[in-house]
Amino acid sequence: MKITPENERKISELLEKMSVRDKILQMFQMDKSAHKEEFPALSEENLGSYLSIMGEEVEALRQKAKATEHAIPPIFGIDAIHGHAWRPFATIFPSQLAMACSWNEELIEEMGAATAKEVNADGLDWVFSPVLCIARDTRWGRVDETFGEDPYLIGKLGAAIIRGYERDGLVASCAKHYIGYGEATGGRDSYDTEVTMRKVREVFLPPFKEAVEAGASTVMTAYGTLDGTPMTAHRELLTDILRGELGFEGFVVTDYCNYKLISTKHRVAQDAREAARLGITAGNDMSMNTVAFIDAAVAEAECGNIPMETIDEAVRRILRVKFALGLFEEKERMPKSVIACKEHRRLNHALTRESLVLLKNNGVIPIDNSPEKAPKSIAVIGPNANGMENQYGDWTFTSHREPAEYKRMKNDRYTVLAGMREIFPDSEIKYCLGCPVSGEEGADIAEAVRLAESADLTVLVLGDDLSQNGEAKDRAKLELTGKQTELLAAVKAVGKPLVTVMVTGKPLCIGDVLEKSDAVVQMFCGSDLGGLAAAELISGKFNPSGKLPISYPRSVGALPCYYNGYSSWHWGGYCDEERGALLSFGYGLSFTEYEYSDMEVSERTVKNGESFTVSANVTNKGKMAGKETVQLYITDHFSSVMTPRINLRGFKKIHLEPGETKRVCFTVTPDDLALVNRREETVVEPGKFTVYIAPCVPDFTYEEEKMAKIVEITE
Ligand code: BGC
Repeated sequence: MKITPENERKISELLEKMSVRDKILQMFQMDKSAHKEEFPALSEENLGSYLSIMGEEVEALRQKAKATEHAIPPIFGIDAIHGHAWRPFATIFPSQLAMACSWNEELIEEMGAATAKEVNADGLDWVFSPVLCIARDTRWGRVDETFGEDPYLIGKLGAAIIRGYERDGLVASCAKHYIGYGEATGGRDSYDTEVTMRKVREVFLPPFKEAVEAGASTVMTAYGTLDGTPMTAHRELLTDILRGELGFEGFVVTDYCNYKLISTKHRVAQDAREAARLGITAGNDMSMNTVAFIDAAVAEAECGNIPMETIDEAVRRILRVKFALGLFEEKERMPKSVIACKEHRRLNHALTRESLVLLKNNGVIPIDNSPEKAPKSIAVIGPNANGMENQYGDWTFTSHREPAEYKRMKNDRYTVLAGMREIFPDSEIKYCLGCPVSGEEGADIAEAVRLAESADLTVLVLGDDLSQNGEAKDRAKLELTGKQTELLAAVKAVGKPLVTVMVTGKPLCIGDVLEKSDAVVQMFCGSDLGGLAAAELISGKFNPSGKLPISYPRSVGALPCYYNGYSSWHWGGYCDEERGALLSFGYGLSFTEYEYSDMEVSERTVKNGESFTVSANVTNKGKMAGKETVQLYITDHFSSVMTPRINLRGFKKIHLEPGETKRVCFTVTPDDLALVNRREETVVEPGKFTVYIAPCVPDFTYEEEKMAKIVEITE
């Protein structure tokens, strides 16, 4: 976001002319659907922002604002979190969790830029994206909205998407939900988060630091409380840390009705007036919804309970973003033709291919689809084989607006069934449901068995549905629901090759699926082209390169199972469950084999505060070209506070032709070695560190190994 002296002067002039009510109205974002009664009168006033309004009404509201005394343009926000997905017929990219599997910052940045164009063309100005929450308790319903479990990866991918959104000044991005939301107790959406401030700094803050550095224009406060203080009222985090330390210059918006929440649920404010005072003085600039906020904030400001300078600062920050977006000049918008244009489709295709993770393959795939060699017939079976809703996941028009639209859609959307039909034109593709995701209605496992028996190969598409994935859809169980496990066992018993595709919003407990299938492809919510890319992967049209941004639990009781936990005397296992994650962060197969060798560090002894480099060769030993994500991990041997066993501190995605070797080099900076000490300071403590270059999380070690070297940091 550009801050210019010229705009600052204009803002000062405006502030001088505005009444207290004018200012508070700028600090309000209206959701029409929640306030139908108040909407007609309020929309005649100069409101700061509208939420989730689309179509012709946007322009009508803009014109109304123009007719008000100060004619300040409203900023229109939308949950475009994986493409402009609330709008049918726009480009819907894989969900954040799915795209995180690509570990591809470039593609994710381009995805942000493409989404910005589509949102801008549609008359809107602000995307409530990215989600920088950390998904460690995967019972939480919003795992699919995150970039996974690792603060480092989340920070890098979050920064990439923000650079894309903000690149051409077409929309403002919104880093959310500040902070610790994903760590809510019991994985219960919007509950309290019981973590210390030291932990906040170590784990939850780094992605927001990256977001601010990448130029995020806005930040959204989380619903929950942190150690008893609602985020909406957390002055230390919102003002001292976010603005004072991180240097954030944009504005902060609350999440939906947070002002109401702090008096009705958190009960730290007695009424709307106290809530308004607490929230504004803590550092919130805009209230998302809660109409009572307007009169309450006006009354508190007029009697001096909220200093006018605080209100002016909040309004200044909001106006800054509006000026930076060119809303006052009515900057020309992108043409509507960018929405779902061919270029975005190409980008979506590339990103979707890299978003798939091959979890298992005993050699059954790739399957030749040439007319001579293609299987005669393929059975495509399963509840997620022939419907787009679950493949789109949450925050799309199918989950939030009009599912009926989906029925009318004729353009480029691929279920796995549609993908298989297109990629295997010479095979007879037979389909049946087998069973629904939940419940038993319509289940016919005998039919599925007959179909599998009559085919040369079965592609089984299992997963979850929209009642199990999304906001406030937390799960106490993570096993496959309905009769899916039975369906899997029955199809396996047929004895023909079995490829399973998982269309899910999160990692489920899939021990059974891995055991019974010959190959398993994890799609998560692959959106528009998920089905096409899955079929292409099965046929070997491209070499899979996705790696997991999140670990898979063996069972719900074994959560959390994220890779960068702590060591303990008893190793954190359970007497009735195998130790460790079923599949760990960083894991993913391909159709070729990469060899890692010749690791070197530039120096063995490094002065504290200085950087060093670490490099290794990576060779494609197989017959197929491919992309490999090379990962850098670090373990701190001894320190004043306990540190995670191992932490990701770098990654590079490289392309390798068969037989090709590339040398991959990382620079390790002091930031990569830092910890947060007991005084909450981020420091590097001298001592030994092991650095690893690996294709996935390595076993941590205090010894030197082929791909692990020890470096000593001196005073
Ligand atoms: C969600 C936010 C979202 C907002 C606006 C809330 O329920 O928590 O992530 O941006 O609604 O739709």
